[in-house]
Amino acid sequence: MKEGRIGIIGVGNVGSTIAFSLAIDNKCKEIYLKDIREDYVEAMSLDISQAAKANSSNTQIKAISKPEEFCDCQIVVITAGIARKPGMSRDDLLLTNSKIIKSVMSEVEQFNKEAIFIIVSNPLDAMVYSALKASNLPRTKVIGMAGVLDSSRMAHFISEKLEDKNVKIVAAVMGGHGDDMVPLVNYSTINGKSLNEYFTENEISEIIEKTKFGGAQIVGLLKTGSAYYAPGFSVSLMVEAILNDDKKSFPCAVLLDGEYGYKDVVAGIPIKLGKAGCEEIVELDLDLEQKTAFKKSINSVNELINVLKDNQ
Ligand code: NAI
Ligand code: 2OP
Repeated sequence: MKEGRIGIIGVGNVGSTIAFSLAIDNKCKEIYLKDIREDYVEAMSLDISQAAKANSSNTQIKAISKPEEFCDCQIVVITAGIARKPGMSRDDLLLTNSKIIKSVMSEVEQFNKEAIFIIVSNPLDAMVYSALKASNLPRTKVIGMAGVLDSSRMAHFISEKLEDKNVKIVAAVMGGHGDDMVPLVNYSTINGKSLNEYFTENEISEIIEKTKFGGAQIVGLLKTGSAYYAPGFSVSLMVEAILNDDKKSFPCAVLLDGEYGYKDVVAGIPIKLGKAGCEEIVELDLDLEQKTAFKKSINSVNELINVLKDNQ
């Protein structure tokens, strides 16, 4: 294991943004990039390396072609797959991306059973499930990124409605990364105060709806793919927390084993990230409405997991 060596598999829009975010601020020692587009990944490696140098960062970036070269990575991020286009939901990517995730995971895991894997490909929760089943790694080492992104979107939509932009916003979202995600109003604050002190019920409902469909809004405008700056930067924050053994709480997708009353399903919940990956699961107190919304979200993820099981 080489401390500070990060692997990224799938170096399209999100993968390259993760590498850029980590490299320009010297957040890790080395980044290994792999993609089926070999010239493209070589170009990304050069371009991001040169950006890092412009900021006097020492992060070394290398395009690689063989899965065994990931053997010493401390963290491996997987964004390989297809992204949605207008008219597609994240769920439409299910079978295509699950095949890709399974092949990538089993290829890499045979050479590296120590790494922490961060899954990004969509539909996120089902892809974390696929990665776990393909690898047999413990759930503490296979973690999905979505909650950090969804919470940052909620923070954006809260800020959009405020006149005073110079405030500290904390936004919290849990559940699956889909239309049934669960924005948590009572765990979200502006300068430490409840959202109810700033907004009417209607305004809060609007923030919740915009958060749920924040990804689709960008897909509709881009027309060629989906968001990548906020997703890529969100992953870089998780990587940093693992490298620094922060043990700070992040909303991430993990396999539930009885927590919140569910088993054998993946969903976004707050966890503490450190060198061992998911070091602690945080169980929030949910009110009845939130429990019902979380159940709906779990049911949506389970529908996808059942399709995966039927197509094994
Ligand atoms: P992209 O199309 O720009 O990049 C995907 C890359 O994966 C391409 O470069 C492609 O060549 C590569 N690839 C495909 N099969 C591969 C394989 N077997 N091995 C290595 N590389 C392979 O897509 P983008 O925008 O980077 O999105 C990537 C994935 O992340 C999509 O599934 C997207 O839906 C998902 N996503 C998830 C988010 C989340 O919050 N979890 C947020 C944003 C995107
Ligand atoms: C997003 O939420 C597509 O999952 C991606 O932007």
